Amino acid sequence: MNFVCENCGYESSKWLGKCPMCGSWNTFKELKGMVEKEEKKGILVNLVEIKEQKEERLKTEIEEFDRVLGGGLVKGSLVLIGGEPGIGKSTLSLQVSLALVNKGFKVLYVSSEENPFQIKIRYNRLSSFWKVNCEKFYLLFSSDLEEILSQINTLKPNIVVVDSIQTIEDKTIPTVAGSVSQVRETTLKLLNLAKGEDLPIIIISHVTKQGLIAGPKVLEHMVDVVLYFEGDINTDYRILRCEKNRFGPANEIGIFEMQEFGLQEVKNPSFLFLPHLKEEMFGLAFVPLSEGRRIIVTEIQCLATPTYFPYPQRIVQGFDIRRLSILLSVLDIQANINTGRYDIYLNIAGSLYIKENAGDLGIICAITSAVKKTSIKKLTCFLGEVGLLGEIRPVSLIRERVKEAQRLGFSRIFLPKENIPISLENKLEIIPVSSLKEVFEILNFDQGR
Ligand code: TYD
Ligand code: MG
Repeated sequence: MNFVCENCGYESSKWLGKCPMCGSWNTFKELKGMVEKEEKKGILVNLVEIKEQKEERLKTEIEEFDRVLGGGLVKGSLVLIGGEPGIGKSTLSLQVSLALVNKGFKVLYVSSEENPFQIKIRYNRLSSFWKVNCEKFYLLFSSDLEEILSQINTLKPNIVVVDSIQTIEDKTIPTVAGSVSQVRETTLKLLNLAKGEDLPIIIISHVTKQGLIAGPKVLEHMVDVVLYFEGDINTDYRILRCEKNRFGPANEIGIFEMQEFGLQEVKNPSFLFLPHLKEEMFGLAFVPLSEGRRIIVTEIQCLATPTYFPYPQRIVQGFDIRRLSILLSVLDIQANINTGRYDIYLNIAGSLYIKENAGDLGIICAITSAVKKTSIKKLTCFLGEVGLLGEIRPVSLIRERVKEAQRLGFSRIFLPKENIPISLENKLEIIPVSSLKEVFEILNFDQGR
C-alpha cells in the first residue's frame, strides 16, 4: 500500500484520481518514507486463560467530558480530539489538563503551534474560574517528536496532551509536518508509548472542510477513542461527539457553552434548544431525540416558499438530504401534499444532527405545517419513523423520551401505535397513531392553503 486518501483513509497500491470509498477527487497522497515495521510474534491462547482486567480511569470531574469517554480517561488509551480551527479544542484540552492537575495528576501539555505567551493568555482567561495549583503542570513547546518522547520519558507524567498532531514532526521521515505519512507515523509512535507506559495521551487534530492537510480520518482506526468537537462557530454552543470508543459506548455527546472564561458544561440541554416553546408558528415541530443515552428535545424549523428556480431548492442543516427526499416523496404519494413547487429550508436547532429515523414524523409535520401555513398546537411533540407507505413505525427508548417531554412541560405527544401499550406514568396526553393520514386529521392539515 503506497497511497492513502486524505479524506477517508482508504489505501491503495496505486495513485487514484477519485477515491472509490468517499468519492473525493485529488485526495490521494503517497505514503513516503514509512518506517518498516518490526516483526511481531503472535500469541496463541485459550479464552479461559485470559484474565479479566478492569480498566483504570482518570476522572476529570468535567462531567460532560467524562461521560463522553464512558466514565473518564482510560489509562494507556490514545484519544483523538478533532475539530475545525477555532472551535475550542485547545481550550477544552487546557481545561481538562487543569482539572487533572487539580486532582493531583502530573500533566504534560505539548504545544507545537502556540507560544508560551498565547497559552498564558488562555490560562489567564480560564483561571478566574479554575483555581489551580500548577505545581504539577508542565508545558513543552516543541514540534520535534524525538524531543517530545524523551521529555515524556524523563518527566514521567500521568497524562500527556499533544496540540496538535499536524504540527509534530518526525525527523526520520522525509516529508513535512502535516503530511499523511508524518501524521500516521507520529501517531503510531505515540500509540506505542501510550500502550507501553500505560499513559493516557490526548492528541488534537484539525479538520478542514477541504481536507487539505491530513485529517483525523486517516487516524481513526489507529486510536482508541475518536471525539469530534463541533458547533456553529457563530454561536456559543459546542458539542463533543464520540465517534468511536474502545472502552465505552460510542454516539455519546457532551454539550458545552463557550463563555468568556472558558467552556461551561450544559447539563440541561433540552431547555437550551427550546426558545420558541411557548409560541405557535408555522413550520415548527418538536422531537425527543436520543443522543447516546441521553434524550434531548429538539426543535425542527422549516420554511417553505414558492420556488423561482427550475428545480426547487432543498437547503438542509442537521439532517440527511437523501432522507429528506424520501420523506417528501412519502408526503406527496401518501398524503397528497406536493412540495415540488416549494423551496424547502429545514433546520435542526442548536447545531444538532438528526441521525435516527425516530425524528421522521416531526420533520414531516414541520414541513407540512410550513407548506399549509397551519401551525401546530403549542406544547406538542412527535415521535415515529415514517415508512414508505405512510405508516408510523415504532421507535426505541420510548419511556425515556416521553419522560423527557413531560419534564419539559409538553402537554401532548404523538406516538407510534405499535409502541403502545407501555406502562407510562404520565401527565401528558398520548396520541397513538399508525398512519400519516391519522396524524394530519388530528392536526387539521387537511385545511389550510
Ligand atoms: P481555541 O481553543 O484556541 O480553538 P482551537 O484550538 O480549536 O483552534 O479557542 C477558540 C476560540 O474560543 C477563540 O476564538 C477564543 C474563544 N475563547 C472564548 O470565547 N473564551 C475563552 O475563555 C477562551 C479561552 C477562548
Ligand atoms: Mg488550538
